[in-house]
Amino acid sequence: PVIEATAADLRELFLTFFEEKEHLRVPSSPLVPQDDPTLLFTTAGMVQMKPYFTGEATPPGNRLTSVQKSFRTTDVESVGDSTHLTFFEMLGNFSVGDYFKKEAIRLAWDFCTDRVQLPPEKLWATVFLDDDEAQELWERTGVPAERIRRYGESDNFWGPAGDSGPCGPCSEIHVELHDQPCARPDCGPNCECGRFVEIWNLVFMQFDQATDGTRTPLSSTNIDTGMGLERLTAVVQGVGSVYETDLFIPLIDRVAKLAAKPFGRDADTDRALRAVAEHSRAAPFLIADGVVPGNEGRGYVLRRVLRRAIRFSKRLDISDPFLAPMATHVIDQMGNAYPELIAAKDHILLTVSSEEERFDQALAVGNALLEDVVAKVLEEGGEIVSGEHAFRLYDTYGFPIELTEELVAEQGISVDREGFDRAMALQRDRGRAAGGFSGAREVSEAHRALSSLRTRSLAHDATSAASSIAGLAVGGAMVASAAELQEVEIVTAETPFYAEGGGQVGDLGTIAGPNGTVRIRDTQRPVPDAPDFVVHIGFVERGTIAVGDTVQMEVESGHRADTTRHHTATHLLHAALRAVLGPHVRQAGSLVAPDHLRFDFSHNLALNQAEAAAITKAVNSRVLKNIAVQSRVVPIQEALSKGALAFFGDKYGEMVRAVEIDGSGDDVPFSLELCGGTHVHATGEVGFVYVTSESSIGSGMRRVEAVAGSAADELISTRLTVLDRVAQQLGVAPDEVAERAAAQLQEADRARKRVETLELELATSQTSVLLDAVETVAGVALLAARVDVPKADLLRDITDELREQMGSGVIVLGSVINNRPSFVCAVTPDLIGRGAPYHAGNIIKGIAAVAGGGGGGRAELATAGGRDPTRLDAAIAAARGLITP
Ligand code: SER
Repeated sequence: PVIEATAADLRELFLTFFEEKEHLRVPSSPLVPQDDPTLLFTTAGMVQMKPYFTGEATPPGNRLTSVQKSFRTTDVESVGDSTHLTFFEMLGNFSVGDYFKKEAIRLAWDFCTDRVQLPPEKLWATVFLDDDEAQELWERTGVPAERIRRYGESDNFWGPAGDSGPCGPCSEIHVELHDQPCARPDCGPNCECGRFVEIWNLVFMQFDQATDGTRTPLSSTNIDTGMGLERLTAVVQGVGSVYETDLFIPLIDRVAKLAAKPFGRDADTDRALRAVAEHSRAAPFLIADGVVPGNEGRGYVLRRVLRRAIRFSKRLDISDPFLAPMATHVIDQMGNAYPELIAAKDHILLTVSSEEERFDQALAVGNALLEDVVAKVLEEGGEIVSGEHAFRLYDTYGFPIELTEELVAEQGISVDREGFDRAMALQRDRGRAAGGFSGAREVSEAHRALSSLRTRSLAHDATSAASSIAGLAVGGAMVASAAELQEVEIVTAETPFYAEGGGQVGDLGTIAGPNGTVRIRDTQRPVPDAPDFVVHIGFVERGTIAVGDTVQMEVESGHRADTTRHHTATHLLHAALRAVLGPHVRQAGSLVAPDHLRFDFSHNLALNQAEAAAITKAVNSRVLKNIAVQSRVVPIQEALSKGALAFFGDKYGEMVRAVEIDGSGDDVPFSLELCGGTHVHATGEVGFVYVTSESSIGSGMRRVEAVAGSAADELISTRLTVLDRVAQQLGVAPDEVAERAAAQLQEADRARKRVETLELELATSQTSVLLDAVETVAGVALLAARVDVPKADLLRDITDELREQMGSGVIVLGSVINNRPSFVCAVTPDLIGRGAPYHAGNIIKGIAAVAGGGGGGRAELATAGGRDPTRLDAAIAAARGLITP
């Protein structure tokens, strides 16, 4: 009954169907949500539609359709069975204030029954508890009442994606796979017996849900639908599992081939084959969209997926690296639909290979450790692996905790997850204490007590201001006043001082009251959840200072100006890196200081010369254009929908500061970031920006350091001075230094080679004289002599020469080289085997001992060193005795 179609056909059938119904086809948005820092991954087609539904942005059309790449983390550990996926494609149609329930139901029904010809009698519908309207609409469409079921919030209400946003009741289409109800009296859609599979979810977007859970009606009603391409394909192709569709069969075949194990014979093997195939498919998509394996957030999810694939590959006895071949396969198979995979191919292959290499090494050791731990637990009749052990596996061997849990679960035991979390928290604290500013990161009692105080920041508009002292702390305790030379922390009502944040260091300066002055050396926000609590740290330079004092606050303006320049330079650099290297470049951390900046970002390869030059050029051309830098406080959605870069995990309020640097005449800004730091008014103030270094800081992460403004001037003038000096010494103009230096080095090299030749000639010229000293000891020719050479190599060279000329015999040569006796002994092959004395290694040992040294070697040739140069001759003379049998 069902049409013949590949998954690729179905994508196209869906989009065309909705295009015929006046929908605009929009591309999938990336898996890393562009404009939603609260969301780890894009989980549905509606993610890019959120601002349209809430009215915060204008859609390109009121009817839209897409195939959206989606990733859901909830089921990572279930992948391997025949239903679960992490990555999937969601077919969707959307109405932004256009049609509503009636048309949405009609369209879905027509697509299913007409376009892909699913048998209508196999389709069931579900509706939200009180949604009589939807019930009636389905009945009018042709679904009999007994095939419509009602469910509550958990099944038929779509909650917001992320921690707030549009939501509403929904209605689903389920396909009945067979007509044998299970034992449950209410067997129907959503029953776990496997009789039904849900294919399509139609959401009637009506509400905007706030973070506290309250819902207010949206100004317009919208439609958001989502149908899993994989499930639709399975139903259309008449197979029992998404893993048996043409989306997965080629991948599973590939894994089966690598493992030399067939699919469909053994349940455990099948599970591993499916898990490897699924994870190998998901990873390239994540990587192409900028995720880098790491220990936090998205990076951690990617790492879990990759490591889980590697672990299952071991179970299949795949011993060769498989992630890169699998990724290549995925890119070939899916690159047509998702060209970003092809564009990022090198980056993807490198990322997966290096993760595989790293984990492979750790896995063997970690597994052995885990086996020991598990054996011990079982032996003692226990059921729980301690949190510390799990943490050690995580920390030392990179075992994601979920992986450890899964591994031990196979033995019927579990992990003390709370203990693990405690060990993790402890390490974080240690890291913080070690890395923090003089303990300022630890929330002291005084900070807690003072942190209800709020400081109004004037840092963006001023570098000096009058205010009053609201609180003081000395040695971590609150005080009413501080005396001369005391270290003090000051809280004021308002402040022009910038508190460290967003990578930018805190301001320095002075705070002067009626009775004294404090020199401030840092400004911090020590309590993470109280961002308006600002502490000025310094010491009382003169007099005393007390709570309630009216004070004049002066920021050291040179320090601030230099830091500000570096902050704007950081934004220019970030934008240039993305423009030159690609959008997978993402900021991982930064330091903005008065004398330099440091920028860490995701990227796999060292910058080549052309890239480095292009980046420097892009930055400095923006500087020369003197483009206005616009900082505006705007609603977060407005900034994000314009494409502002935000950092996942950062908490942003409703209103954010967006810093924009215009692209030269392009529609898109060159740089747009959410940033609380201070910035110059126009890029010209930044001055010349010079990249001083570029390095790797771990897998997939690079670090660039640069200087701007006066720091760049200083660096350049220092370098130029050095260059001038070298030029002077070489007697050429600065431009000719490189050429001249190369020529000089070449000349030195030639001279060195000539010296070597002469040394050798000189050394070997001694041989004819030496041959005169050959004597016969116990019927064997012995040459034991002192020579004069500067290098041990030459001693060997002369020995070779002598051996050839003597034909048969024992040679012992000694020389003082670098103030130490050096010896070589050679025995010609014909003598070897004629008794113990004719062994160069033994002879040399005896000789070196005389000069206070040791050595040894083969029977034919041996070398040794001694300690006492005055014993050289005595040592050589000992040779006679040593070869007398
Ligand atoms: N947002 C709904 C879902 O993901 C429909 O697209 O199921």
